[in-house]
Amino acid sequence: MLKLSGSKRKSVIAGAVVLLLALAGAAFAAKEAKKVATVNIPVAAELYATEPQPLTPTQCGQCHSSIFRALKDDGGKHRFDCQKCHNTFHSYNPKKGGWDELMPKCATCHAKPHGPTIADCATCHANPHAPKKVAMTTRLTNACAECHAGPRDQLMKFPSKHGKVACQKCHTAHGYIPSCFKCHKPHHVGQELATCTKCHPVHKPREITYAKDTPGATCAACHGKVYAKWQKTPSLHGKVNCATCHHTRHKYVPKCTECHDAPHKKEILARFPNCLGCHLDVHDLPVQQKKGK
Ligand code: HEC
Ligand code: HEC
Ligand code: HEC
Ligand code: HEC
Ligand code: HEC
Ligand code: HEC
Ligand code: HEC
Ligand code: HEC
Ligand code: HEC
Ligand code: HEC
Ligand code: HEC
Ligand code: HEC
Repeated sequence: MLKLSGSKRKSVIAGAVVLLLALAGAAFAAKEAKKVATVNIPVAAELYATEPQPLTPTQCGQCHSSIFRALKDDGGKHRFDCQKCHNTFHSYNPKKGGWDELMPKCATCHAKPHGPTIADCATCHANPHAPKKVAMTTRLTNACAECHAGPRDQLMKFPSKHGKVACQKCHTAHGYIPSCFKCHKPHHVGQELATCTKCHPVHKPREITYAKDTPGATCAACHGKVYAKWQKTPSLHGKVNCATCHHTRHKYVPKCTECHDAPHKKEILARFPNCLGCHLDVHDLPVQQKKGK
């Protein structure tokens, strides 16, 4: 027997182990040639040649078609990549719960745009994929004035029958502007819708104002007699528009001296201060028909 030192003996043993492993490996290689599966599927390594690309919204939409449609039609400024909001998805497990934690949070990207008291974003913006579609819920109708104080204040400060009409009776959808003709007839045939708010500011409809070029026909609807007289008068006042005299607001009555600066001697006017005492009818001034012309 050879006498080996401790360290040499270890290396001999190690050599033997290596040899045994090599023999076993050869036996295994011989076995590999045999089939290990019961089916035959060829390797297609080329399918794994490139790294996967993140799914585009169109690709997500192949499965989530209604969400894709909502974003496409009503997504507005939310029409960006799904994964800007959904950085984690397809990890929801109904047994574990935690849906709410998984879903994107408005606060990640938005401060409180409607002020500090309005925090329950999803009550109004029910579908983040159609963020501007806000339904007429009581949550919204109770809050109109929180965001639009102006109309409420006008309706209160200038009492009218519109003050008894709820905001949502006119604004049947958020942002919808109703036509006056839905509830009213025009004053006369052919009067256009666009004229209504020129005289009636809708949230204070009794504060009637009008432009100087308002056609006399508008007034005729209610002041038929005056209008008829004025139309036929030979006086030059027949060329002056109703609203030029009755300007700015309804029921305003002008002073003659707004247009006629000192027409007569002071002494006469001091004795007869009422112009219409002599000129009788402002809408049909008696005028002398000039002869020989
Ligand atoms: C602006 C952020 C935002 C974008 C962009 C967005 N989502 Fe969402 N998504 C959300 C939020 C917030 C929720 C949670 C809604 C809830 O809890 O009802 C949600 C919920 C979902 C849900 C689960 C609820 C359901 O309605 O089925 C799916 C699926 C989904 N989104 C898919 C998508 C896909 C697909 C896209 C892109 C085509 C996308 N999202 C784009 C914010 C977004
Ligand atoms: C091959 C079909 C398919 C594609 C593609 C797909 N999803 Fe889904 N997704 C599903 C199914 C199925 C569910 C589970 C059922 C459900 O909620 O509709 C789901 C659930 C979700 C959910 C809610 C549950 C969760 O675990 O997050 C979100 C959010 C979501 N998908 C986002 C996306 C986004 C974003 C994309 C694109 C990047 C996408 N999905 C692509 C099939 C798909
Ligand atoms: C990943 C960031 C992100 C998240 C999360 C997010 N938003 Fe937005 N949102 C935006 C951006 C960006 C805009 C466009 C802002 C701009 O252009 O000023 C926007 C715009 C909007 C708009 C205006 C849409 C338009 O078309 O004018 C609304 C409403 C809105 N977000 C509501 C929400 C609500 C509610 C949530 C939560 C359910 C939410 N957002 C979550 C990024 C986000
Ligand atoms: C009481 C209902 C309500 C609540 C609650 C609410 N919003 Fe809005 N939000 C609206 C309405 C209505 C609009 C106007 C939509 C339009 O332009 O038609 C709006 C508009 C927006 C806009 C667009 C702003 C602009 O000037 O165009 C953003 C962004 C927005 N909301 C985000 C949020 C966020 C974030 C929250 C939660 C902190 C939230 N909203 C809570 C009703 C609400
Ligand atoms: C949370 C805030 C918020 C609430 C609540 C809210 N609005 Fe709005 N509203 C907005 C924003 C933001 C806009 C779009 C920006 C703008 O034009 O001022 C808007 C626009 C409008 C417009 C269109 C304005 C125009 O010039 O075309 C009308 C009309 C309107 N709102 C009526 C209402 C009525 C009626 C209610 C109650 C049922 C209501 N809003 C509730 C925020 C709100
Ligand atoms: C009798 C119908 C009616 C009622 C009631 C009504 N509105 Fe309006 N509103 C309108 C019409 C019509 C317009 C368009 C006015 C115009 O074009 O001059 C309008 C315009 C608006 C606008 C956009 C222009 C502006 O003045 O800022 C807002 C916001 C608004 N209304 C909010 C409200 C709110 C809030 C209430 C309830 C407090 C309300 N409205 C009640 C008919 C109505
Ligand atoms: C949704 C219906 C509705 C719409 C839209 C509407 N109104 Fe009215 N309006 C009413 C009702 C109701 C009254 C009260 C009628 C009554 O009691 O005879 C009224 C009364 C009025 C009055 C009389 C006010 C008073 O106190 O005497 C004026 C002026 C008026 N409306 C103008 C308008 C104009 C202009 C528009 C369009 C900008 C308009 N309305 C749109 C419902 C509406
Ligand atoms: C030239 C200004 C002017 C225009 C334009 C105008 N109105 Fe008037 N409207 C008035 C005056 C003045 C009254 C009477 C107010 C009073 O009784 O003190 C009135 C009264 C009304 C009334 C109350 C009921 C009634 O008939 O007395 C309604 C409703 C009305 N207008 C609706 C409308 C509608 C709708 C339009 C648009 C087609 C319109 N107005 C256009 C000046 C105008
Ligand atoms: C919808 C009906 C209606 C329309 C349109 C209308 N008015 Fe009137 N107007 C009235 C009523 C009602 C009175 C009050 C009558 C009374 O007190 O006897 C009145 C009174 C007046 C008065 C009298 C004021 C006074 O002190 O006696 C003047 C001036 C007047 N209107 C001018 C006009 C002019 C100018 C127009 C056209 C730009 C016009 N009105 C359009 C209904 C109307
Ligand atoms: C040249 C200026 C002028 C013109 C143009 C004018 N008015 Fe007058 N109107 C007056 C004056 C001034 C009074 C007050 C008369 C008085 O004190 O007796 C008045 C009074 C009225 C009155 C109340 C008294 C009455 O006669 O019933 C009505 C209504 C009226 N005008 C309507 C009209 C209409 C409608 C037109 C157009 C068809 C018109 N006015 C054109 C200056 C004018
Ligand atoms: C808005 C301006 C205006 C007002 C207010 C006005 N007028 Fe005139 N008037 C005229 C114009 C314009 C003429 C045409 C002649 C001219 O250019 O001076 C005229 C002409 C006249 C004439 C000459 C008659 C003719 O047909 O030749 C008399 C008289 C007269 N006005 C009296 C009055 C009296 C009286 C009043 C008050 C009750 C009055 N006017 C108020 C603008 C006005
Ligand atoms: C005492 C009666 C009387 C009084 C008062 C009176 N007028 Fe006259 N006015 C007349 C007579 C008469 C004429 C000349 C008639 C004609 O030429 O047809 C006249 C003419 C006019 C003319 C036309 C002048 C021209 O050059 O053609 C105007 C304008 C006029 N008056 C305005 C007024 C005004 C404004 C007042 C009140 C401040 C007034 N008048 C008060 C009697 C009067």
